[in-house]
Amino acid sequence: MKTVAVVGTQWGDEGKGKIVDMLAADADVIVRFQGGNNAAHTLVVGGKKFVLRLVPAGALHPGKACVIGNGLVVNPLALLGEIADLKRSGHLADDSLLKLSYEAHMVMPYHLAIDRAREARLGKRAIGTTGFGIGPAYEDKMARVGMRFEDLLDFKFFEEKLRRNIVEKNAYLKAMLKAKPIKADETVDAMKKARRRLLPYLCDTGAFVSEAIDSGKRVLFEGAHGTMLDIDHGTYPYVTSSNCVASAVFSGTGIGPGNLEAVLGISKGYTTRVGAGPFPSEFTGHLADSLREEGDEFGSATGRPRRIGWFDAVLARYTARVNGMWALALTKLDVLTGIDPVRICVGYIVKGKRYDDMPPSHRMLINAKPIFEEIPGWSESPAGALTLAELPSGVRRYVERISELVGVPIAMIGVGKEREATIVVRNPFAD
Ligand code: GDP
Ligand code: IMO
Ligand code: MG
Repeated sequence: MKTVAVVGTQWGDEGKGKIVDMLAADADVIVRFQGGNNAAHTLVVGGKKFVLRLVPAGALHPGKACVIGNGLVVNPLALLGEIADLKRSGHLADDSLLKLSYEAHMVMPYHLAIDRAREARLGKRAIGTTGFGIGPAYEDKMARVGMRFEDLLDFKFFEEKLRRNIVEKNAYLKAMLKAKPIKADETVDAMKKARRRLLPYLCDTGAFVSEAIDSGKRVLFEGAHGTMLDIDHGTYPYVTSSNCVASAVFSGTGIGPGNLEAVLGISKGYTTRVGAGPFPSEFTGHLADSLREEGDEFGSATGRPRRIGWFDAVLARYTARVNGMWALALTKLDVLTGIDPVRICVGYIVKGKRYDDMPPSHRMLINAKPIFEEIPGWSESPAGALTLAELPSGVRRYVERISELVGVPIAMIGVGKEREATIVVRNPFAD
């Protein structure tokens, strides 16, 4: 297959970055289609750790085109910082290989101020956002007052629009949120300086990606966040403000549905969540703490400790459906080594009623009691295994049970942080 999308199937941080980096070796073009720098995709290559937020996780492979599609909200200064960091480490040497959509929206300082002030006001009811202004930026996109990269072509127009927005946002910040206003002159000056560095990356990315597909190139679409954080299909309102499911590939890049051949879902062998919201298979205590340490489960974007839970097969079946999943990549099996037994959530009890599939309303998850199946654990680490046959039999049994419960094949098994530490059962680009 030549066009493949990678999507998260839980609440984010499933290991999408690592899988995209690995698959990027076989792709010509790697495309982000939604979200912003609330994403944090970690790659470990040659013992060095890289965290990518806006630049697609193909950037560590020389000669690959990396596309930031129209579906993103991009903080322009954060993007320039990320590009500079990558260049310092010897990557992204050829600027013509990074393409930024004219139609992508910008995250402006007032979006960050509004995001943070709203969260502070919500107190206990806060969503636990990353504070990077993502929700307010998507709001402005829908309200048709967003700043787009194409606006930079005519800086006079850009400045007028920006100043108008700042007046309105400052009134809202002061009167409603009791927060400090944004300094208009400072914002305009920063954007005037950034403009010169951003313009060379601007591209009609829809046409670029379509032409790549038409000419037979291999295109990899990199999802951010996770299906349960999707604005429509996730645990609303404890979600992010974009569609994170595979169908967002089309609206977020400008290609049509017939152009996507496979959707690879990524899931950890257990579950994590950062921020507030329902999480039926969550557990706390000593075991959760040791798994958090072992799996380094601290948010790459904000450093917050991630909440820990068992693998949830109900959720995985649901996310397989909404993404039209071809196969699943399971990551971090090495982290479960030594836990005996391992548990899988196979159903929920809500107000005395059993649900084997996702209840009709996500709000019902708030009171859902998990039903667990216990699987014998394994003591021998799968780290270092290169093939299915080399996996300890306990890991194989666990993976097979997950595949059976979710109803999709397992394409990859993660057994360590490094790029090479993934057993590839089926490579979508080789199918
Ligand atoms: P993403 O947002 O989905 O790209 O995931 P993150 O990068 O935020 O979080 C996943 C974390 O798990 C990162 O620190 C990865 O280096 C790490 N990771 C990914 N796959 C594996 C694996 O199979 N084993 C181990 N031990 N770590 C992994
Ligand atoms: P990756 O791509 C984990 C969560 C936040 C919060 C909610 C809304 O690395 O998987 P936002 O700032 O988006 O308005 O916050 O969504 N969230 C993530 N959690 N990984 C992510 O991205 C996330 N992106 C957003 O913690 O609960
Ligand atoms: Mg992440």
